[in-house]
Amino acid sequence: MVFAVTDFETVNFFRDRTVQDDPYPYFDWVRAQSPVWQEPNYGVYMVTGHAEAKEIYRDPATFPAHDDPSGTYSSCNAVSGPFVKFSVPVEDAEDVSDLIARYRHELPFSDQLPTFDPPMHTDHRHLLMRLITPKRLKENEDFMWRYADSLIDAFTSDGACEFIGSYAEPFTMTVVADLEGVPEEDRSLFRDHLSSGHEAVEHKPLEFLYDRFTGYIEERRQNAGSDILTGLATATFPDGSTPEIKDAALIAANLFVGGQETTVRMLSFALRTIAERADLQKLLREDRERIPNFIEETLRLESPLRTQFRMTRVRTSLGGVDIPAGASLMLVPGACNRDPRTFEDPHEFDIDRANARQHVAFGFGIHTCAGAPLARAEGKVTLNRMLDRTSHIAISEQEHGRADARRYEYLPTFFLRGLQRLHLELAAA
Ligand code: HEM
Repeated sequence: MVFAVTDFETVNFFRDRTVQDDPYPYFDWVRAQSPVWQEPNYGVYMVTGHAEAKEIYRDPATFPAHDDPSGTYSSCNAVSGPFVKFSVPVEDAEDVSDLIARYRHELPFSDQLPTFDPPMHTDHRHLLMRLITPKRLKENEDFMWRYADSLIDAFTSDGACEFIGSYAEPFTMTVVADLEGVPEEDRSLFRDHLSSGHEAVEHKPLEFLYDRFTGYIEERRQNAGSDILTGLATATFPDGSTPEIKDAALIAANLFVGGQETTVRMLSFALRTIAERADLQKLLREDRERIPNFIEETLRLESPLRTQFRMTRVRTSLGGVDIPAGASLMLVPGACNRDPRTFEDPHEFDIDRANARQHVAFGFGIHTCAGAPLARAEGKVTLNRMLDRTSHIAISEQEHGRADARRYEYLPTFFLRGLQRLHLELAAA
């Protein structure tokens, strides 16, 4: 369905499948109204301008307001957005910092890192970064090269694969299990419990992860070893104090889920691009040094995490728009990353784009994606090995239709942008 321009005024981005499946004309329309625009359904301020989004992302570090170290924008509603409200009304006030401090625990995910503000965020992020040291990432990347091959082995001789189920999902899950040092013998348990069809955890995958990581940490606190989980169990906050087991388990569980769905979508968009674009596939086959920028451009053009929310602590003005205290803002990386004021010909895939890495697909500032180096390495390893092991990769016309009439199904949600399935045809190298 093609929207007439006037229809965009009444679009409900949170519910409307059509605009979710093809969001870019809508994002352009919203940005043309204003890079900060109050949408009519929930009163959320949509931020579709790149510069305006960066001002928000970097706020707590650089624009401390009213002597509050947390700045103008709070992350308390980073995940829940405008959909869950405090039990008390947010009156027309100049400053709702106290209200946020008193009621933030009522919002979903309030015990998790993305919703923390400084100084609590600073402490817990420090704990998390103990798990993602450069040394650990290097070892993890060595694992990726080996593991990628074992997955690819299983389908190259078939000449075809459904890439998400046979590669991207098992790859991202096992890579993070390796990063966190989940014992080999437990990994199949994680796979079984977290795969989509498992009834017991279908609605509470995090519960399973909390339980497992709580068990690991308790055990390591009593019997320290030299593994990664011992590192987490014995990690301290910057002031030297020891976190509660619950906090350490939360960090580990968070990391475990944080990167999977998103990275699956990034890998499948990257593979779709090389399968659709023989010219780009050829360039990458000939020159692997182009892969890192190719991945940045993929993230720019199809940003997997569609939205992050913030709440204004104080009355403010952004992009020339006055915003009251207590309002919800929605950062939309996929729209910011196609802002023509920052990216020339923004809808084009330009493998040589000099500023591709300025995208905000990983956010920016203090909450910038903690797993970005991992995701980038997963992209690099996957593309290299898929190209090494094949001489040709194409889209399955049987599954997705002819080149001039492709059919792709996207995830039916406003917070993730991603393909549901990607059927490829391959010629083994
Ligand atoms: C292509 C893949 C990925 C994308 C597009 C992505 C995107 C993002 C974005 C936009 C944020 C910022 C949220 C905000 O500002 O409110 C974020 C934060 C985060 N990401 Fe990722 N992510 C990806 C992969 C990963 C991976 C692989 C991991 C871990 C293994 C991970 C773990 C996290 C964590 C823990 C945070 C919270 C950081 C904080 O609040 O300080 N992500 N991610």
